[in-house]
Amino acid sequence: MSFSGPAGPRVPRRRAIRVALAGGFLAATASALGIAGAFLRPRPPREFGASVDAGHVRDFPRGAGPTHDAEFRFWLANLDPSDADQNGTGGGAGLLACYDKCPHLGEVVDWRPEFEFNGAHGWYRCRKHGATYTRAGVRVFGPAPRSLDTMRVTVDQFGAITVHTGDIARGDTDNPKRAVQHPLLPS
Ligand code: FES
Repeated sequence: MSFSGPAGPRVPRRRAIRVALAGGFLAATASALGIAGAFLRPRPPREFGASVDAGHVRDFPRGAGPTHDAEFRFWLANLDPSDADQNGTGGGAGLLACYDKCPHLGEVVDWRPEFEFNGAHGWYRCRKHGATYTRAGVRVFGPAPRSLDTMRVTVDQFGAITVHTGDIARGDTDNPKRAVQHPLLPS
């Protein structure tokens, strides 16, 4: 038996079925590959080392205590350049992200607003051996061999902050100079 359209050539029925089945198979395969591709396609990494959204500049008042991102291991603050206290910013102005890993033995460093040292409150402090750092992460006390490492910070034209957790600079006394300014940062 064969088929024909109103004016088309006659097509054997078996051949028509085979063509239809092959077409269906190809469509199903393409669909399956598309789904698999969606899973296999590289996505932006979400683990440490990624460049991560860190909020908007309006959420970081100048001179306020730092904000912690425990997942991506950084403290982020808007440094006040007029803060001349010994636990201060060392003249740093703008956003500074400090790696929360102590350079001594790697313990987490906390922001301790109540902690008093040399008559001033508010320091970064290591949980393990008490290394102590200023608001700019500059080491002032304890066994750590250097200041807190810092992560590169960028801010787009709308004020969205990105911290690049794979772009880490060794901490040093120049930490305050690494702070990033932006016209939309609260002053
Ligand atoms: S691990 Fe931080 S002071 Fe030792």
